[in-house]
Amino acid sequence: MSDGSKILGISAFYHDSAACLVIDGEIIAAAQEERFTRLKHDYNFPVNAARYCLKEAGITAEQLDYVGFYDKPLLKFDRLLETYLDYAPAGFRSFLKSMPLWMKEKLWMPDLIRTELAKASGVDDERRAKKAGKKFEWKLLFGDHHESHAASAFYPSPFAEAAILTIDGVGEWATSSIGIGKGNEITLLKELRFPDSLGLLYSAFTYYTGFKVNSGEYKVMGLAPYGEPKYVSLIKDKLADVREDGSIRMNHEYFSYSQGLRMTNTAFDRVFDGRPRQPESEITQREMDLARSIQVITEEVMLKMTAYVYKETGLKKLCLAGGVALNCVANTKIANAGIVENIWIQPAAGDAGGALGAAYAAYHIGFKMERRPASFPDSMKGACLGPAYSDKDILKTINSYEASYTHFDAFNECSSFVNERLAEGKVIGWFQGRMEFGPRALGNRSILGDPRNPEMQKRINRKIKVREEFRPFAPGVLIEDLSRYYETATPSPYMLLIAMLKDTLRKPAPENELTEDLTTRLSHIVRVWPPPTTR
Ligand SMILES: [Fe+2]
Repeated sequence: MSDGSKILGISAFYHDSAACLVIDGEIIAAAQEERFTRLKHDYNFPVNAARYCLKEAGITAEQLDYVGFYDKPLLKFDRLLETYLDYAPAGFRSFLKSMPLWMKEKLWMPDLIRTELAKASGVDDERRAKKAGKKFEWKLLFGDHHESHAASAFYPSPFAEAAILTIDGVGEWATSSIGIGKGNEITLLKELRFPDSLGLLYSAFTYYTGFKVNSGEYKVMGLAPYGEPKYVSLIKDKLADVREDGSIRMNHEYFSYSQGLRMTNTAFDRVFDGRPRQPESEITQREMDLARSIQVITEEVMLKMTAYVYKETGLKKLCLAGGVALNCVANTKIANAGIVENIWIQPAAGDAGGALGAAYAAYHIGFKMERRPASFPDSMKGACLGPAYSDKDILKTINSYEASYTHFDAFNECSSFVNERLAEGKVIGWFQGRMEFGPRALGNRSILGDPRNPEMQKRINRKIKVREEFRPFAPGVLIEDLSRYYETATPSPYMLLIAMLKDTLRKPAPENELTEDLTTRLSHIVRVWPPPTTR
């Protein structure tokens, strides 16, 4: 493959569809489809995200050399059929529910991708595209789901050689994998297979505590600090056998995700003496204790997996990806455990990042292209890989809403204006530069408030985000001021690690006041802003 090779990575049809364009081994653009359609976790083919990536590079779909898809749909289908046959006739309803999408779209993926990319090129289908003189001669490559996660973890990392750990709900069959990345090669050594899955175990508790699977996992992590780990022994005794090598063996008497439309069953309800919490109903101490218990187990499993990866590879640098690697509390336990010296976590660790991994895998694994040395601190460009808007675009939008505005010629005039408002207790919508790729708002599309104000968390959650009061926010701290505020020397540019606020800066939480308590306990998540690559 010559220099200038253009590869589009795609993830789609499960959740968090995304597209990523890699040209000559460099990430040019990456975006999640939900940011264009406004449908959270949109799983449809990312036609808008693909269109944006092509536009960013100033190319059209017919100029692509390769398209990489993040998993192997036929292997996924194989799992679905085999699991159904194992449990038949149970699960027939869920089997029937999933079939139309498979029959209509997923099994015809090559045709579908060509048709959708023709749309991204501005024509309705490939046939018409050909008529219009557009040729789609690119090759289509399908990566393994966990290989895509592993590629997204290793290739953009700052390491020339590293161990790799991927953990999620499930891909084709794998639910977790370990491997080695060296130069331009990735070798996956072992995998944990469906239905045993740390991600699905966490999702089962997400479901049981009344949150949405595949999106409410953050809420469980955010709720955990308010609970006690009182169910840990019960979970380990009844539901999941945690082994020393970090593998888990789940007792499938208590789960129904293999064959049903729910995550847990009545046997699970009996273990915890009650039915799942109804979504939107009151959150009680029980949910907090359940959240803390599954969080503690997740941390234990991830630490054991890390120790096992080190034992198997002997490598002191570790790259992480997969949806479970968005658990910043567990990541911090790994970073501080002393098992490995350095960790790097893909900011789009969930399935959106699979698009980035698929493009990288096509470049380095499929076509054996050399890896360029990672720029400090990595090759993610601060995860600012999405669309930017010009002053002209912004003005057009302001005018369309007939909104009033003030234009500042100098950035420090604007920042002084914002600082004054923040100090007055105002909440600011901050919009600058390119949109972040990954679930975290890192300062380019962020809601800003004064972290010293004890009312701020409650106010933003209630009035602006319209979400539960316990949901945390992350302070942004300049890297040179990190040790002034936090008990850590490790920057967290992608909001994937937590740190404790210095004792001297903490205020006591008012007694029996959940919201205030949350402010002091949960505002320890630290991110360094601006991202070092843009400084
Ligand atoms: Fe995944």
